[in-house]
Amino acid sequence: MKKTCSETTLTNNSAQAHTDKTESTTSSDSSETGNNNRAYQVLDEFLKEEEITLYNLPKYYDIAFSRDVSGEIKFYTNCFRKYCSFDVKTILEPACGSGIFLINFPKYGYHITGYDISPKMVEYAIENIEKAGCSDKAKVLLGDMVTMKFNPKFDAAIIPLSSLGYLQSDKEILSHLRAMSESLRKGGIYIVEIACACDDINNEKTPDETWFAERDGTKIEARWRPYHYDKENRIRHVDFRMKGQDNGRVFEFHEEHKLRLWFYEDFKKLTREAGFRIETIYNQEFQLVPKDSRITGETGALYYVLVNE
Ligand SMILES: C[S@@+](CC[C@H](N)C(=O)[O-])C[C@H]1O[C@@H](n2cnc3c(N)ncnc32)[C@H](O)[C@@H]1O
Repeated sequence: MKKTCSETTLTNNSAQAHTDKTESTTSSDSSETGNNNRAYQVLDEFLKEEEITLYNLPKYYDIAFSRDVSGEIKFYTNCFRKYCSFDVKTILEPACGSGIFLINFPKYGYHITGYDISPKMVEYAIENIEKAGCSDKAKVLLGDMVTMKFNPKFDAAIIPLSSLGYLQSDKEILSHLRAMSESLRKGGIYIVEIACACDDINNEKTPDETWFAERDGTKIEARWRPYHYDKENRIRHVDFRMKGQDNGRVFEFHEEHKLRLWFYEDFKKLTREAGFRIETIYNQEFQLVPKDSRITGETGALYYVLVNE
């Protein structure tokens, strides 16, 4: 994820500071940061510009990406029943973010473990789990998808919201898929939600180009805009912007996310090499998509049900 720092502003209730951050009332100088890097007050701490990223601000991520996941959970549990030869009791969620699935799967009796590469997300997810009172069934760890492996093995795994895209190279993806194959029981399933490249990038379906969210006095406007496909290097470039108000404090930043640009043929090859079989594919309405149909991003993000062979 790359930030365009020169355009990042994070301000404290100062409209003027949006256009001239040298006037920002939250910025601190070398005396507070220990060097010449300007720091901005975010929530209760001072962060340097390069630290102001979506995944370093889990409170704002959690508000912006909050959603009713009961439909998704129903879909996942139906898949567990249909495609696993045993009763699924334990679930693994790589790149679990602030933990929306960690606090919701336990309501249906499942044990779930998540992990994430962002220490702040992990900290926030721990608080979320404690607040939800499900520490007996949910836990979260710090870890990198490229290398993280588990023993004892899990019955099933999920990776929603195209998070697998944060691994860009075939090498990293293969390493992750092999680690997942080793961390799942034979016959266990891994449900991966990703969107393939569209024939035309203008057809990209985003969460909503711009959307608004609000919780406990914090108002957020977010925009997720894929703007370039680098087909040769298989990279999707996305411009992400967030601005809002947190109990009077105004903030705004933007950054570039680089994600894997998926083509179905690549996904088939890598999953097969790692020891998975694509059992079936579902669309966002949880309807079956024929595996031999032409799959491009025009179909929207799809759920691939992988069986660990
Ligand atoms: C879209 S968010 C999380 C989505 C979460 N599953 C949800 O449904 O809200 C993507 C997450 O991937 C994490 N991430 C990115 N690269 C990672 C890696 N190599 N290993 C583990 N987590 C990673 C980020 O820190 C971020 O929390």
